[in-house]
Amino acid sequence: MKVVIPGGSGQVGAILARAFHRAGHEVVILTRGLTRGLTRGLTSGPAKAAWRVVKWDGRTLGGWTSALEGADVVINLILATRPGSQ
Ligand SMILES: NC(=O)c1ccc[n+]([C@@H]2O[C@H](COP(=O)([O-])OP(=O)(O)OC[C@H]3O[C@@H](n4cnc5c(N)ncnc54)[C@H](OP(=O)(O)O)[C@@H]3O)[C@@H](O)[C@H]2O)c1
Repeated sequence: MKVVIPGGSGQVGAILARAFHRAGHEVVILTRGLTRGLTRGLTSGPAKAAWRVVKWDGRTLGGWTSALEGADVVINLILATRPGSQ
């Protein structure tokens, strides 16, 4: 199964990405930047090859939409408590 996780660089996403990968699924994480993911080892170290990390802006369509092709599941984990605050 191909699982795409917008906001997957966060607390819940890190847990889900590892769980889906361990279960043998293809995981793609959409992030606006790599900083948060780096702190949780999502985009560096031994786990780097376990999933694909794709940069997007969360607002506009772009090249990142190709990451959705063939997706079986999209799990939206974006946490925007105040619109326009991040
Ligand atoms: N953590 C919990 O205990 C808990 C409990 C119940 C429900 N939830 C829900 O689970 C979801 C994820 O929670 P979390 O704790 O994993 O949050 P988190 O650690 O803050 O991660 C959320 C991710 O959302 C992305 N994001 C934030 N604002 C954005 C925006 N304006 N546009 C695009 N992306 C944005 C960020 O990714 P980038 O910066 O990499 O783009 C961030 O890593 C939320 O909906 C939350 O309400 C969490």
